[in-house]
Amino acid sequence: MSTTPEGDQGAAAPGWTATDIPDQVGRTVVVTGGNSGLGLETCRALAKRGARVILAARDLDKGDAAAESIRAEVPDAEVETRFLDLADLSTVAEFASSIESVDVLINNAGVMMPPRTLSAQGHELQFAVNHLGHFALTAHLLDVLKDGDAPRVVTVSSFLHKRGRMHFDDLHGEHKYTRAGYYSQSKLANVVFGLELHRRLRTNGFTVASVLAHPGYAATNLQSSGPTGVAKLAMKLSNRLAQDAAMGALPQLYAATAQDVESGQFYGPNGRKEQKGYPTLVQPLEAARDRELAKRLWDVSEELSGTSFGLAAR
Ligand SMILES: NC(=O)c1ccc[n+]([C@@H]2O[C@H](COP(=O)([O-])OP(=O)(O)OC[C@H]3O[C@@H](n4cnc5c(N)ncnc54)[C@H](OP(=O)(O)O)[C@@H]3O)[C@@H](O)[C@H]2O)c1
Repeated sequence: MSTTPEGDQGAAAPGWTATDIPDQVGRTVVVTGGNSGLGLETCRALAKRGARVILAARDLDKGDAAAESIRAEVPDAEVETRFLDLADLSTVAEFASSIESVDVLINNAGVMMPPRTLSAQGHELQFAVNHLGHFALTAHLLDVLKDGDAPRVVTVSSFLHKRGRMHFDDLHGEHKYTRAGYYSQSKLANVVFGLELHRRLRTNGFTVASVLAHPGYAATNLQSSGPTGVAKLAMKLSNRLAQDAAMGALPQLYAATAQDVESGQFYGPNGRKEQKGYPTLVQPLEAARDRELAKRLWDVSEELSGTSFGLAAR
């Protein structure tokens, strides 16, 4: 037995792996950042179980190569690459308008610890890609999602959300940007958003589930694409101790497919300090449940992204 963020009891199956994913034939899944790391493993595992996978990538060549690698392993895989740059909200809207049906949206793409950079709309890159782009994408897709079969939104955060603080007075790090601090801010925003989405969907009578997941520590491109200098070198070394991307993807695969998953839950690995292992229910930072914080983040995200869910708060 384990505990949901809302205090209910539930359990994840011990030792659950991708082979335990229920049959996905007839289901359509959108995976952001589907060309690399956890996203690619998620697309691969879902395609193997028969899902139609829409692999969203900001680089179509990389997306097509990833889709090809899945087809090489799963010849009848239904995988389609589509362009999505979460750092440009206009492409988020365009991508969303191309989606006619979806049962599961996996908000997976992310960037970690780059030098301070701004998105096309002038927002700090980690907040823009990891949170704001996914917030806007989910808002755009809600109408299509609500017609899905047992629809779910899975948002991928990190155990580092526990080090996060929302800098509402300096959201874009204009005054005091730190790479790690703003990564943690974006991952805290993922958790606050996922929980608030769960509450608002329920309050407004929607059956779409909002579930959170984090991978623990998995060796992927994340540790080399953003960090530079000593941090990049240190991560290259610590990656030797990390689990692989296929293991890291299990919590989000569980959140996306397991039948006992409930809206508002958070899945991570069951090992020491949630760094590696098989999916289990985990707890968010206590402050991430704060309703005032959630309302403030929701309002500012609607304003900055120019999107609205039309979902009243409880
Ligand atoms: N690996 C870990 O240990 C770990 C730990 C905690 C949380 N996470 C979270 O897991 C998620 C997946 O990360 P990963 O480890 O699989 O890293 P990854 O291998 O670097 O994959 C990240 C994906 O996000 C995409 N992406 C980056 N910026 C984007 C943008 N502007 N628009 C659209 N896509 C964009 C990347 O595209 P490109 O290939 O074109 O760069 C890539 O496909 C992230 O949300 C990360 O925060 C990972």
